[in-house]
Amino acid sequence: MFDNNKKIFTAPLAGITDKPFRTILREFAPDVSMVTEMISCHSLVEGHKNCIRNFDNYADEGNIGAQIFGADAYLMGEAAKILQDSGAKWIDINMGCPVPKVATRAGAGAFLMRNHKLAGEIVAACVKAVNIPVSVKTRLGWDEAHKDWQDLIRVVADSGADFAVVHGRTRAQGYSGNADLPTKPDLPIPIIANGDIKNIDDVERVQSLGYDGAMLGRAMLGQPWIIGQICGTAEKPQNVGNVVLKHLDLIIDYYGAKSGVPMFRKHAAWYSAGMPNSAQFRIRVNQITDEGELKKIIKDFWSID
Ligand SMILES: Cc1cc2nc3c(=O)[nH]c(=O)nc-3n(C[C@H](O)[C@H](O)[C@H](O)COP(=O)(O)O)c2cc1C
Repeated sequence: MFDNNKKIFTAPLAGITDKPFRTILREFAPDVSMVTEMISCHSLVEGHKNCIRNFDNYADEGNIGAQIFGADAYLMGEAAKILQDSGAKWIDINMGCPVPKVATRAGAGAFLMRNHKLAGEIVAACVKAVNIPVSVKTRLGWDEAHKDWQDLIRVVADSGADFAVVHGRTRAQGYSGNADLPTKPDLPIPIIANGDIKNIDDVERVQSLGYDGAMLGRAMLGQPWIIGQICGTAEKPQNVGNVVLKHLDLIIDYYGAKSGVPMFRKHAAWYSAGMPNSAQFRIRVNQITDEGELKKIIKDFWSID
């Protein structure tokens, strides 16, 4: 799993790294390791129809781990089985999400950093349920006073986790401040570094700290080719507008135009960031509900015939 490009991971980003965006990323980096958006074990096991990603098939998606969240070890194991059957190459368990709905109300995500025993039970249940690798994605700890990630890593490793991703912030930090990973300590499983990794220099920095791989999240927004540049498999395309149009088509195929057009607004904003007249472009995009009209203003903005 940790060969060549596979040491580079794309991060799970809820509402962003859906199947359409992953298709775009995969074109630039065929061998990169990806993680899906987080998926609720309840929603998956109950087969909620309104959550399209419950029905994704990963068989054609290359090296991809499916991420689940939840606080019920049995249901997490059942969810892991479903994802294995859908073609996921490994199961990733969310132990870092700070959103109150997940971390406090559901006792899942980052809350597992406060309950190592349950974290271990969840990993053990997933390891027992599937015959593919199981990883966890976590943070440095709950808050500044509880940066006990190394203890958590030892617990999940003892329970059978194959590797872990560590985001160099605490739950209390959310996404503010700088990610700050120390030199990699001696731990029993490979650790992938995450947080504020934006380019090849950052990848090399975390490698020099001893980490076994690097995971990029927000750096991919509006520039999915960055993953290809880091993996050495692609450059920035001549005309970004063609990528934007393809991404829009994929989103519409997947969600339908009614949901897809408004959903695409954030991507349009990221793709156009920093370009001349991008503010006016964004204002127009945010008013549009029609697929044809959206395509037209994208073509105009990027000068595509
Ligand atoms: C909009 C958004 C959605 C995210 N969704 C998830 C998620 O579903 N699962 C997860 O483990 N982390 C999630 N994260 C955290 C990222 O995977 C990553 O750990 C974090 O953004 C730091 O990495 P970066 O600085 O490279 O973006 C999310 C972050 C953002 C900003």
